[in-house]
Amino acid sequence: MKIAVASDHGGFALKKEIVKFLQEKGLEYEDLGTYTEESVDYPEIAFKLAEAVAKGEYDRGILICGTGIGVTIAANKVKGIRAALCHDVYSARMSRAHNNANVLTLGGRVIGPELARTIVEEWLMAEFEGGRHQRRLDKIASYEENR
Ligand code: RB5
Repeated sequence: MKIAVASDHGGFALKKEIVKFLQEKGLEYEDLGTYTEESVDYPEIAFKLAEAVAKGEYDRGILICGTGIGVTIAANKVKGIRAALCHDVYSARMSRAHNNANVLTLGGRVIGPELARTIVEEWLMAEFEGGRHQRRLDKIASYEENR
């Protein structure tokens, strides 16, 4: 599984923790920025990662800003992206099982590194259940296609 990770300045510190975690687990990842604590606009970061995931360059993406809200809003504007803001393990698991989320979003100013690591681990392991959930996602995709 190829994973893309990105953050704005508000998520920079947590991104470093997530990158460390992915390295420890031996997972294949790429850090798409930002690379310093200098202020950047989160939509640019979110669109960059989301478009790369939508094109199939990565299987999954992890996006982090201060609250996680800005990157979620922006990433979900990209066709084919299902970005889920998860600050608890249950939501992380369900965002995969029921929503087939391909981008996990986190707030670097909301949760600490230990919880974030557990959320990322659960989210990467959980499988989409398909069935009636696929039917519902098809409705979202059809809306996205035809609007
Ligand atoms: C940046 O200060 C902050 O607004 C951003 O990281 C994010 O929280 C936006 O939703």
